[in-house]
Amino acid sequence: MNISFPSASYDDITAPSLLVEDTKRRLIVADLHFGIESELNNKGFYIPSQARERKARLLDLIKKTEPEHLIILGDVKHRIPGTSRQEFSELPFFFEKIRKYVPITVCLGNHDPGLEQFLYPHEIAPKAGIILDEISYMHGHTRPSPDFFGTLIICGHHHPTIGLYDGIGIGFRSPCFVLAKLNDSIWDRSTEDTEKIKRRRLRSEKTTTDQQETKPDLDRESDPDGEKTLFIPKGTQETRVLIMPAFNECVGYDLRQTVLRPFSPISRAIEKETAEVMLLDGTYAGDLESMIRSFRDPSR
Ligand SMILES: [Fe+2]
Repeated sequence: MNISFPSASYDDITAPSLLVEDTKRRLIVADLHFGIESELNNKGFYIPSQARERKARLLDLIKKTEPEHLIILGDVKHRIPGTSRQEFSELPFFFEKIRKYVPITVCLGNHDPGLEQFLYPHEIAPKAGIILDEISYMHGHTRPSPDFFGTLIICGHHHPTIGLYDGIGIGFRSPCFVLAKLNDSIWDRSTEDTEKIKRRRLRSEKTTTDQQETKPDLDRESDPDGEKTLFIPKGTQETRVLIMPAFNECVGYDLRQTVLRPFSPISRAIEKETAEVMLLDGTYAGDLESMIRSFRDPSR
């Protein structure tokens, strides 16, 4: 399995995405938030619709990466509750265009009630998410299914961004990826789920003893072209999460705020000392703990 960061740019805006290659080439994006402009307009901020450009960025990415499958990790639309006039006018054309190039699966997000009317039933993932080639996919606003124990969970929902600063305070802000272990508080305490996890733990114990390397890391050495890839071992005891940045160009939360004031089961269960932050092209930006320290103490 190979996970890389295609990072195609269009009109100087980078399109955050992952390319997961195993039995199929799968392109992954999250949090497109179509219709956000009309919601901002309602609050007094006039921003013309960026739907055409957003769609063009995704098409450009699809043409460059030639995936066999596109997985959208939720929040395709923005309005909750209901569906806005802008969403009604833009979403049918968006899906019509994209499905000409690649089959789509959508893991519905918390902003997606009503999205089903624009999709075929086979394009909607089960509510809990899906496991494909031993990777779990979900939006990220709910507790993961116990079936996801011991896998890498790829999700959206958190819109992570990070600010990087030098000694005199000049810096830049960028959307980012976060890779971290999840602690056991993530799992539901119901008897049925606890039993399921116990069984998965026993099954994965056998696999883990056969594997020497269990630590996920950026596999920088093995790539002659300098392209960043992730090495993810299969069948381990540890559950990890890879949080994707939002594809939408105007949403983002500071990652350090998210971890210090978590707002989801996943952000509450992140083991901070294991968390690594990567920029859109997979460049390692640093470990989250030292970023949090410098956030609390700007002089560091
Ligand atoms: Fe979102």
